[in-house]
Amino acid sequence: MRIELTADKLNAAGCALIPTMGALHEGHLSLVRLARARTDRPVVATVFVNPTQFNDPADLERYPRDLERDAVLCAEAGADIVFAPAVETVYPPDQPRQPVTIPPVAHLPQLEDAGRPGHFEGVCQVVSRLFDLCQPVAAVFGEKDWQQLQTVRAMVTLQHRPIDIWAGPIVRESDGLAMSSRNTHLDDKHRLDARALYRALNASTNAPDPSSAEALMHAELEAINADIQYAAVRDAETLMPLVEHTDRPARALVCAFVGGVRLLDNAPWQPRRQD
Ligand code: PAJ
Repeated sequence: MRIELTADKLNAAGCALIPTMGALHEGHLSLVRLARARTDRPVVATVFVNPTQFNDPADLERYPRDLERDAVLCAEAGADIVFAPAVETVYPPDQPRQPVTIPPVAHLPQLEDAGRPGHFEGVCQVVSRLFDLCQPVAAVFGEKDWQQLQTVRAMVTLQHRPIDIWAGPIVRESDGLAMSSRNTHLDDKHRLDARALYRALNASTNAPDPSSAEALMHAELEAINADIQYAAVRDAETLMPLVEHTDRPARALVCAFVGGVRLLDNAPWQPRRQD
């Protein structure tokens, strides 16, 4: 396995790409393993803390960085290359930033855009740049960030890029909490409270319709006094509210601050059949 810090000797064209911001955990590594299992092409993991997708400078500042550790983990998971570019490589100061098409799914009211305006502009911008620099034929994203996954899929379609987007299932702790680099910011009490997001998703499956599913999710999150950002059932692909009697796949999505930490989770949803 080799580590590249610049694009000069990258030679990644045709690879399977796994974009990350580092601080790797089993969730990220499952995506590297998924790529390794699916292709004999080079598997390239990128480690880049993208400044343009952070709304809060303090959040960017405190983002954990440990490239040596990340590289060892990527090698063990089967990556051939770790690409860890500097900000100047991704955003050359002497080149104008290319405008990027942002699909509508990134901009829906009430979901991520409400609490993190501009976040998906940053994600689309960096993912586009990484695609340009690495020229992958496939890229892997986690279902953990469901709206991001749908945004990237829609962006690739709009940009007519010949890149397959592969989705990796959510990797969870043994008590159900979705793995996230933010979990380390939870103190002991809030770590236990954080299980309410998974409980909320499970509770939603007992509902006969989306609005009662949303009420059940709210109740679970209110029980731990979480600062709820959203708890919604949406069309799994467009993330629009469900139209009645649809047979399109749906997804329950939750986001809440627990002990000051912003946590996300989601799961497939279908109305409980009433016999
Ligand atoms: P990051 O948060 O580092 O996540 C990198 C990838 O790992 C994303 O596709 C994310 O969905 C996936 N991931 C994180 N936790 C996971 C879990 N518990 N189970 C499965 N997959 C998980 O997402 C980003 O970085 C950035 O926005 C990025 C796409 C790299 C652009 O900067």
